[in-house]
Amino acid sequence: MKTLFDNIDNTESAKSPLLEDVGGIISKLRHELDQHNYNYYVLNNPTISDFEFDKKLKELEKLEKAYPEFFDPNSPTQRVGSDINTSFKQVKHQYPMLSLGNTYSEGEVMDFYERTRKSLNADFELVCELKYDGSSISLIYEKGALVRAITRGDGEKGDDVTANVKTIRSIPLKLRENDFPEKLEIRGEILMPWNVFDELNKEREAQEELLFANPRNAAAGTLKMQNSAEVAKRKLDGYFYYLLGEDLPSDLHSENLQMARKWGFKVSGAMKVCKTLNEVFDFIRYWDIERKNLPVATDGVVIKVNSGIQQRNLGFTAKSPRWAIAYKFQAEQAVTRLNSVSYQVGRTGAITPVANLDPVQLSGTTVKRASLHNADIIESLDLHIGDQVFVEKGGEIIPKITGVDKDARILIGEKVKFISNCPECNTPLIRLEGEAAHYCPNENACPPQIKGRIEHFVSRKAMNIDGLGIETVNLLYQNDLLHNIADIYELKISDISGLERLGEKSAQNIIDGVEKSKLVPFERVLFALGIRYVGETVAKKLASHFKTIENLENATLEDLTSVDEIGERIAESVIKYFSSAENRAIIERMKKFGLQFSLDKDLMQLKSDVLSGKTIVISGIFAKHSRDEYKKMIEQHGGKNTGSISKKTSFVLAGKNMGPEKLKKAEKLGIKLINEEEFLVIINENS
Ligand code: IVH
Repeated sequence: MKTLFDNIDNTESAKSPLLEDVGGIISKLRHELDQHNYNYYVLNNPTISDFEFDKKLKELEKLEKAYPEFFDPNSPTQRVGSDINTSFKQVKHQYPMLSLGNTYSEGEVMDFYERTRKSLNADFELVCELKYDGSSISLIYEKGALVRAITRGDGEKGDDVTANVKTIRSIPLKLRENDFPEKLEIRGEILMPWNVFDELNKEREAQEELLFANPRNAAAGTLKMQNSAEVAKRKLDGYFYYLLGEDLPSDLHSENLQMARKWGFKVSGAMKVCKTLNEVFDFIRYWDIERKNLPVATDGVVIKVNSGIQQRNLGFTAKSPRWAIAYKFQAEQAVTRLNSVSYQVGRTGAITPVANLDPVQLSGTTVKRASLHNADIIESLDLHIGDQVFVEKGGEIIPKITGVDKDARILIGEKVKFISNCPECNTPLIRLEGEAAHYCPNENACPPQIKGRIEHFVSRKAMNIDGLGIETVNLLYQNDLLHNIADIYELKISDISGLERLGEKSAQNIIDGVEKSKLVPFERVLFALGIRYVGETVAKKLASHFKTIENLENATLEDLTSVDEIGERIAESVIKYFSSAENRAIIERMKKFGLQFSLDKDLMQLKSDVLSGKTIVISGIFAKHSRDEYKKMIEQHGGKNTGSISKKTSFVLAGKNMGPEKLKKAEKLGIKLINEEEFLVIINENS
């Protein structure tokens, strides 16, 4: 099928197309893609397939690359983010970002109503909205284009997180229609939907990274990530609830929100203009139940005076507006009996205490177990077996124990004391300084650690070995066929096919999967080894820097910490891993089986060493090659690419529209800028 791009290339007599035509096509494509983003992310109603969407997006990317003069920071192609580190500039809010008075009681809502009535001494309407539980954000639009996104910060000034916010697909980069004010500020909440949060925590758990306690923390943490390309992967969402500016369309808050929806913002449908206090309470009671079916977290209802004139009459206290109040929902809580505490051992030996409870209903599910996190938490709760404990779900997926009903103690049971030996192998536990968790140090003989490492090795994001799930690994381990990850490569069909639940066909499937895994690239093999703190991203960084496992094995602490984003904690863990003779022997065996322990040839092959010893920063937009291609070229010619300009930078490979901060810094440090043509001459690739 022909694409728009083909049309341009093939214009009559193969002449280059008229620039206006290209501009028109680019703008039409942008418009179309904005509309599809809006249909998908705001209206939840896509009208084309993902495939068609991606095709159009690629077409636009191709055109923008060929005609950089049409660059637009708010083009739909700019939502993918960049892998360049951004440090956040602090920006002062034009209007301070205040918080709201909070209450948990209907009585106080009544007081708020009475206060407002007396103070206004006139009829008034209230708008009820859901209180979204995320990270608040302020967006500034000028002439309909998003120019800045600022976090709440201390209320006076916040961090400029524009690059990250632009990756959120439901946030318009350009406003729809054209009846918006020239300058508009809109406030709302950045949220991580529950399903994205659950998935993210699952991944983090598999990699033994710290879990986010709730979607609010996850959203706030994501907004502050330095690499906007990573933010783009986290699938945040944004709901908006408050407009500011000189010339808003209406005096009524409810009408302004309707307009905001028309301009492309996600404005919650759960909003109601109320004339009586009873209507307000109906709204609260309805949504206290119904909110559990929403895709994002909410923690209350915000009640606002609808009229702008009346809002101004009521004014503000030092901290919050007098025209609004937040009613917070009670966190769901249940009381049940603590029967026992058991201890689980993870693949890195970390011990997690788990409370076993009498089953109890909580937020629509039956809860039998709750996490107790670590020894300090058990101690601070002063837990005894048989206690009646309070269990809460709050924002977390795993319920937790928040307290003990000490008045309900009739007979005091045995005090819960954290174990001193591993529940699986009886080795005395250790606790590292500054860490909350206890560990079992018997990594090579403690069964759940061995099995956990094998399970991690075969998992989808690691070696992705078909047919080897948790149960099969367990079975093979119990039958003495697997003791470590290298044993996987010695499995034979005859070993497997005789086992319970496994026939000839599953055995063949496993062997095929094992064989296929020998092609898995080095960075994933490195991740699969399960070195503590070496997640997917770190594994990629280490692989691309050290190129072979031998280089990594021999790296010193300094070698390791000189790599971008590798700190001492990771470096020490890598050194510890390779200092084990057992680990080295496993790797040697796997080398013989043919696994990939060095980078792809293409990346390794040095074409020249003209850039040897040079540290190069890439910034701006390029016409001839993509940023990734330039990165690869730098490496292939012996240079090193880094994210931020410092004294050590040899030169900046500068494209169009280089960031002003970077430019300033380069000028200040007297670092040379080299454009892409000059760069290609240096590496002799221009011909
Ligand atoms: S109105 C001046 N409406 O709750 C008042 N805030 O404690 C402007 N929030 O900082 C805020 N949902 O981050 C408003 N529908 C909603 C909200 C909402 C969540 C957050 C917001 C604010 C905090 C107040």
